[in-house]
Amino acid sequence: MAHASELIADDIDAYLTSHQYKSLLRFITCGSVDDGKSTLIGRLLYESHLVFEDHLAALEADSAKVGTQGGDLDFALLLDGLSAEREQGITIDVAYRFFSTERRKFIVADTPGHEQYTRNMVTGASTADVAVILVDARKGVLTQTRRHSYLVSLLGIKRVVVAVNKMDLMEYSHEIFDAIETEYRDFARRIGLSDVTFIPISALRGDNVVEPSSRTHWYHGPTLMGFLETVPVDDEAASGPFRMPVQWVNRPSHEFRGFSGRVVGGMVRPGDPVRVLPAGTTSTVERIVTMDGDLDVAEAGQSVTLTLADEVDASRGDVICAGEAPAEVADQFEAHVVWMHEDEMLPGRPYTMKIGTRTVGVTIGPPKHRIDVNNLDHLAANTLGLNEIGVCNLSLDRAIPFDPYVANRDMGGFVIVDRLTQNTVGAGLLHFALRRAHNIHWQEVQVDKDARAQLAAHRPGVVWFTGLSGSGKSTIANIVESKLYAAGVRTYLLDGDNVRHGLNRDLGFTDADRVENIRRIAEVSGLMVDAGMVVLVSFISPFRAERRLARDRVEAGEFVEVFVDTPLDVAEFRDPKGLYAKARAGELANFTGIDSPYEPPEAPEVHVDTTTMSAEEAADRVIDVLREHGIVG
Ligand code: ADX
Repeated sequence: MAHASELIADDIDAYLTSHQYKSLLRFITCGSVDDGKSTLIGRLLYESHLVFEDHLAALEADSAKVGTQGGDLDFALLLDGLSAEREQGITIDVAYRFFSTERRKFIVADTPGHEQYTRNMVTGASTADVAVILVDARKGVLTQTRRHSYLVSLLGIKRVVVAVNKMDLMEYSHEIFDAIETEYRDFARRIGLSDVTFIPISALRGDNVVEPSSRTHWYHGPTLMGFLETVPVDDEAASGPFRMPVQWVNRPSHEFRGFSGRVVGGMVRPGDPVRVLPAGTTSTVERIVTMDGDLDVAEAGQSVTLTLADEVDASRGDVICAGEAPAEVADQFEAHVVWMHEDEMLPGRPYTMKIGTRTVGVTIGPPKHRIDVNNLDHLAANTLGLNEIGVCNLSLDRAIPFDPYVANRDMGGFVIVDRLTQNTVGAGLLHFALRRAHNIHWQEVQVDKDARAQLAAHRPGVVWFTGLSGSGKSTIANIVESKLYAAGVRTYLLDGDNVRHGLNRDLGFTDADRVENIRRIAEVSGLMVDAGMVVLVSFISPFRAERRLARDRVEAGEFVEVFVDTPLDVAEFRDPKGLYAKARAGELANFTGIDSPYEPPEAPEVHVDTTTMSAEEAADRVIDVLREHGIVG
C-alpha cells in the first residue's frame, strides 16, 4: 500500500503535489451495463497494490454477502461510492479516482454505462487524455459502444483503448478478438479516431490488465496498465495561444488590482502583450502572482493572478488573451448540441449557457440535423431528445470571446442550463461564428416610443392574459378593450385562436410549437408597445419561461400579467368549444390540462379567480392595475 497513503482520501492536492514529478494521465472508462467496467477499475487498483487494507477486509466481507462471484473477491464492490449501484447493479454517476504507480499518476473518470447518463460521460470525457472503451467479447460492438466512441471523438480525445473484456468466457478466442477489432476499426475511421489500441483482457481473471496473460499467446501488445503507464500525454491546450478566463477581480487595496483565473491555453510571461475580450482593450502583463510568490511563466492548467500595466476594466467572464493571437468574439454560432434531459430541447426557448467563467442567455435554433450514432447518418429533426446529438445554430444575448472547441476545449465547450429548474439540460461544442448578425445593423429611428406616446394620452403596455382554454381570458380581454377604447386608449387585441389563423398558421400544439407561438407573440407585442399602443394578449401561454420572455421584451412597468384562474374541472364543465370533450375522447392530443402541462404564474400583477369574480369585475380590476402602473390615466 506504499503510495496509497491516506493523503489520497484526505487531501488530494497534497497527494498530487507529493507526486508532482510524475506525469499525470487523465482517462475515462466507458462501457455498457455489465461490461465489467467496475471490475476492471477495481482490478487495476488492486493489482497495482493500491487498495487500502481496511477496504480489502470490507471487500472480503461484502463479497461473501452480496457478491456475484461466488467466494471470489468481487472487484466491482470496490467502486461502491454510490449505494444505488449496489442495489441496482448499475453505476449511476461519474466518479473520479486518483491513483499512482511507480511510473505515473492517474485520474480516472468512471462514467456509467447506463443508456441515460450521457451527461456524466460528457463531463468525464471533456478533460480526459485517453478513453478506455470496454467491449464485452460475447456481445461485440454495441450501439452504446458506438455512442460512447462518437462522444469521445467529438469531445476531442485522440487516443482510445478498446479493452475486449470477458475473453475468459470466449476461450480466449483470437478470431473473436480479430472480428471485434475489424468492426471497430471501420467505425473508428469514420468518426476520425485514428489512434486505437486493442487489448484482449479478462478483468475478472486479471488477464492482460496488469500482468501479461499466458492464455492469450497470440497477443503481443501491452497490458492495459502497461499502455496507460507509457502512452504519451501531449497537452494540446499548452501549445495554443494564451487564454485565461477571469474568475474574479482581486482587489484587496487601492494599490493592487489583479485578475484571477485558470490558464486554459498556452503560456504567459511578464511583459507579454495581452488583449482583454470582449472589450478588446490592450495592455501588458506586469506580474504573475501566486500564493507562493511571483512566477516567471504560467501555463495551461495553472491558477494565477495577473496584474496588468494599464488600468483595464475587466470582470468575471472576460478572457485575457495573447495580444497577437486573441480569441474571436461573436454572438451567433453553429454548434454541436448533446441533449441530456428527459424534457426535449425547445428551439426558441431562452436557456442559460455557461461557457468558461461566463454565463449568458441563449436560444437554440431547430436542429439542422440530428446524428444517428450508429451509422453517422444525418437525420431530419425538429428537436433533440434525451441523449440525442445534433447540429444547431445558437443565438446569444451578448457577444462572448471563444475559440472553436477543436482548438481549445475550455474556450469552445459549454453547458446549457434550464432557467427555471437550474438543471443542466445539455452540453455542446462551438464550431464557428455565424457572421449574419454582423451585417444587420440596428436602424436608428427619428421618432421613438416616447414621441409616439406623447401623441396619445396614455403610455404603451402589454396586458398578458394567461390561463387554461375556456378559462375566460378572451371574454375579460374583450371587456377591457371596450372600456379602454371608450376612454380613448389606442388598443389592439391579439387572441390565440385568431392569430393561429394567420401569422401562426404553421404551428400546432406540441411544446415546441407553443414555445414558438409565444415567442412570436412576445415579439409582436413588443413591437406594438414600441408603436405606442396598449396591446391585450390572450393566449393559454402555458410555460413560465416564454411568459418571462414576453415580460423581458418590454420595459419594467410596461407588462401586466393577468392570471385567469379557472380550475380545470370548471373549464372542462363550461367547455365552450367542446374541445375538452374531444380531448377526453382521445380525438384531440396535447390538450392543455389533459395531456399537456400548464404552469401557473407565480407572481401575476392581477390574479382573477373566475369562480368568485365576474368577467366585468375582473375587467375593472385589470383597468385599476393599468392606472396604478401609470399606463392609462
Ligand atoms: S398556446 O398554448 O400556444 O398559448 P393558444 O392560446 O395559441 O395556445 O391556442 C389555444 C386555443 O387553441 C384554445 O383556446 C383552443 O381553442 C385551441 N386548441 C386547439 N387544440 C388545442 C390543444 N391541443 N390545446 C390547447 N388548445 C387547443
